[in-house]
Amino acid sequence: MAEHLLVKKSQVSLFKTVPFYYQTQNKEYALYKKTGDRLDEARLEKTRYPNLYILEADREKAMAELIAGLNKDFKEKIAEGQLTEVRQSLEFIVEEALTPGHESNMNALPETLDILLGRYHNDNAAMEYLRKIESNSSILIKHTVNVTALALQFCFFHKFSESDTRQVAMAALLHDAGCAQLDKILIETTKRLTDEQFKLYTTHTEMGHDMIIQSTDFDMAIPKVALEHHERIDGSGYPAGLKRLASYSQLIGLIDSYESLTYRGKLFRKAKKPFDALNHIKEEVLQGKFSKELFKRFASCLVK
Ligand SMILES: [Fe+2]
Ligand SMILES: [Fe+2]
Repeated sequence: MAEHLLVKKSQVSLFKTVPFYYQTQNKEYALYKKTGDRLDEARLEKTRYPNLYILEADREKAMAELIAGLNKDFKEKIAEGQLTEVRQSLEFIVEEALTPGHESNMNALPETLDILLGRYHNDNAAMEYLRKIESNSSILIKHTVNVTALALQFCFFHKFSESDTRQVAMAALLHDAGCAQLDKILIETTKRLTDEQFKLYTTHTEMGHDMIIQSTDFDMAIPKVALEHHERIDGSGYPAGLKRLASYSQLIGLIDSYESLTYRGKLFRKAKKPFDALNHIKEEVLQGKFSKELFKRFASCLVK
C-alpha cells in the first residue's frame, strides 16, 4: 500500500503542484487535489480543511516545492522589512533544512543566504536586532540562527569579501546539523548532561560532517566546521583533540561558545550577560583554548 505523509498545516499553502490526499471516515486515503491543481490561498485561510497528506513517492518533488515556497515567503518578508517576521521565516527554513530525512533541503540554504544578504549585507545593526528577537522555535533552531547572525556581524565588521561571508554564514547555519539527528532530550534538557549523554552529544560533530558531505556539494570548508567547531587549539576539544584547526572552525567555535553562554533558558546555567560571557571566554583564551587574536577580533565586533 502506498505510504502517505502528513503535511504541516502551516505549510499547506507552500505546496504548489503535488497531489494532496485526505483520510475518509473509513481511514482510507482519497484524492483532495490532483497533480498540478493549486489550492486557493484565500480559501485555505478562511475555510476549515482536513489533515492533508502527500504520497511518499512525491516526497522529493514536494520537498523542492516546499523549500522554494519557503524561500519565496522569506523574500517577501525581507521586502517588507519587519525583522521579527524575517527571523520567523528564516527559522522555518533552517528547521526544514535540519529535519532528519530532509537533508536535501540544505541545498536551499545558499538561496536563503543570497536573499538575506541582498538586503542586509553590511547591516550590522540589523543582525544585532535579529539576534535579540524572541521566538518559539526549538533551542537548536534559535541557537543556529543566533550563531549565524553573530557570524555575519563578524564578517561585516571585519569587511570579509562577499564570498567569504557567504561561506562563513553557511558554515554557521550547518555547524550543528548533526544535533538534529540526536535524541531531542540531549538538546532540550534543562539539566546538565550525564557523562554518557555527553558522549552521545559529542557525536553530532562527525554526524553533521558526514550528512553535509552526503547531501550537498558545498565547499569542504563547511562540513569541516561541523566536524571541528568543538576542537580547541590546545588539543582539549572533541572529537579528535586536534590542535591545528581551520580558521573558520576556530571562528565558529568561538561564536558558538559565546552564543551558548549567553543563551536564555538553560536552567542549570544562568545565561551570562554579553560582557560576562566575553570574560568567561577570555579565561579560556588564557588557558590556550582559543587564539588571542581571534578573540580580540570577535570582541571588537560586539563592542563598538
Ligand atoms: Fe556543536
Ligand atoms: Fe552550536
